Amino acid sequence: MARARPQLHLLISSGSTRQPLDAVRFLSNYSTGFMGACLAREAVRRGHRVTVVSGPAAASLPVEAVVVPVERNEEMQAALRRYAPRADAVVMAAAVCDFAPRALRTGKAQRKQAWTLKLRATPDIIGTLPRRPGQVRVGFAVESRDLLARARRKLQAKRLDLIVAQPLERGGAPFGRQAVTAVLLAAGGARPRLLKRVSKPRLARAVLDEIERRCYADSPGNDAPGRTR
Ligand code: C5P
Repeated sequence: MARARPQLHLLISSGSTRQPLDAVRFLSNYSTGFMGACLAREAVRRGHRVTVVSGPAAASLPVEAVVVPVERNEEMQAALRRYAPRADAVVMAAAVCDFAPRALRTGKAQRKQAWTLKLRATPDIIGTLPRRPGQVRVGFAVESRDLLARARRKLQAKRLDLIVAQPLERGGAPFGRQAVTAVLLAAGGARPRLLKRVSKPRLARAVLDEIERRCYADSPGNDAPGRTR
């Protein structure tokens, strides 16, 4: 008789992040957190333990998940650093704010004066997290061109096991959309898997299938997490 597979601990980042410009304004993106919420729901449904580090988001998260609310990149990074060493898988579904102002203005900038913003790129989070042996890492990438080549570069540079590459569709990013197109690119040279116009719950199932396959592989009797690399 097949033995029950042990529960995994999934750490999921979700939503957007905000980088302040002055006391009342910020830079961010259109992420609604729906993809992260679908991943959390699917993981809970499969009986896993779920921690969600969530930036500002509209989508609601399952009550079974431990939710750690954050706002800025630095807060998201600090929270993920705290939980990552105990996670079997880290899924970086958050749309991290890629830019921050070079200088933060104090108080509230006045409209009378024009304001030229100088931005700097923010440091990568997923690539800098402490990693326990065997931990599975999943990232997401939205690209306006060269989808596969860019996603493949990020898969390597960020030392991911899987990247969910999504084309910037006509009319904008996949943020807030019901149906999306995605290519699942796994480390190790497996053939990319195209999921054309699928719902986000369906995409979450495909990602969870891949995480479970990797976490349960190579373990004694194929039923315990703890693969080493
Ligand atoms: O923005 P980019 O395309 O590089 O995002 C790819 C992956 O890296 C995503 O999973 C995103 O959450 C993550 N990321 C990150 N730190 C950043 C920017 C993105 O971990 N500063």
